[in-house]
Amino acid sequence: MKKLDPDGEIAMQTEYLNAAEDDGAVARAAQLLREGKLVAIPTETVYGLAADALNGPAVARIFEAKGRPQDNPLIVHIAREADWTPLVKEIPEAAHRLAERFWPGPLTIILEKSGLIPDEVSAGLSTVAVRCPSHPAAQAVIRAAGRPLAAPSANLSGKPSPTTAERVLEDMDGKIEAVLDGGPCAVGVESTVLSLAGAVPRLLRPGGVTAEQLREVLGTVELDAAVTDKLAPGAAAASPGMKYKHYSPRARVIMIKGPAGPFADYVNAHKGPGVAALCFEEDKAGLSVPYLSYGARADASAQAHALFEVLRALDDAGFSLVYAHSPEPSGVGLAVYNRLIRAAGFEVLTLA
Ligand code: TXA
Ligand code: MG
Repeated sequence: MKKLDPDGEIAMQTEYLNAAEDDGAVARAAQLLREGKLVAIPTETVYGLAADALNGPAVARIFEAKGRPQDNPLIVHIAREADWTPLVKEIPEAAHRLAERFWPGPLTIILEKSGLIPDEVSAGLSTVAVRCPSHPAAQAVIRAAGRPLAAPSANLSGKPSPTTAERVLEDMDGKIEAVLDGGPCAVGVESTVLSLAGAVPRLLRPGGVTAEQLREVLGTVELDAAVTDKLAPGAAAASPGMKYKHYSPRARVIMIKGPAGPFADYVNAHKGPGVAALCFEEDKAGLSVPYLSYGARADASAQAHALFEVLRALDDAGFSLVYAHSPEPSGVGLAVYNRLIRAAGFEVLTLA
């Protein structure tokens, strides 16, 4: 992993701003954003690659920097619920209840967009995804910029999302004007994406706010089929992001479902050069291959926090085949499962 070098011993083309150590960092990031530049910012979920959401050409550069397909829309970030009104046609009562309960926090809500949203943000759709992040540095930079910020995850398209400023620079150094370091992200996987644009609330991407929590507020919430299953060839994706290869390390990942004993037996029987396990704490003792743990089996929040960093670390170590022990697909674990099964390209093995 490339070391951060704010003192300039290694030439970095992207300006490094440290929110904790430099009082001017947030103001500088906001100034660049107002000028139409790209700045990676911390959020409580993952780092985002931000631009002024109301500046179409600036937003277009996000797609270039990431290598992102043009038809994949971006999330617009606001600092307070009141800033939502001008961005959408109408805010239904259910949306207000959700915002009251979960904002600021890892929930993105899709509604019909207003005329203020450039086509670059919504990628040709009639809707816009909005969220209000809770990370103090994200809050500060949005307020200082004085405008909503469009931001996808700050990784190269297809790679695991970055949860530290170091990982952002690994993908984006030289492609963006600055990165604002706000420390490691607490949640570790991207926000829950919920569409309120249809007749029934629909969960398009699971995240830190769980389906169970959404149902407490809304009653019915439909789970989009793409949350747990591969999209059928030719089927339309409710969330365009779901149809692309995602969260993929260079290594081939195979997801394994089953208890600890059979998992260890299977992986140990398949050991060889370049083979590693992505496992739970409880699996470690039984494994005779190199491994990285992503948390205790029952601790989905720890798994979410660690997952993307561990996927990148497995690549750093040069492994070519990773057997990953599947999380339980409920609560926050559903978000972990959704990311890991994509990292595995839907290659799943079930052991009794
Ligand atoms: O936590 C997060 O959500 C992070 C941080 C930076 O806020 N952002 C993030 O953005 O994960 P991104 O672009 O990597 O993922 C956004 C997802 C994509 O799957 C995209 O297709 C979907 O949200 N999306 C955005 N706008 C949409 C819309 N209008 N309709 C349907 N899906 C939409
Ligand atoms: Mg992303």
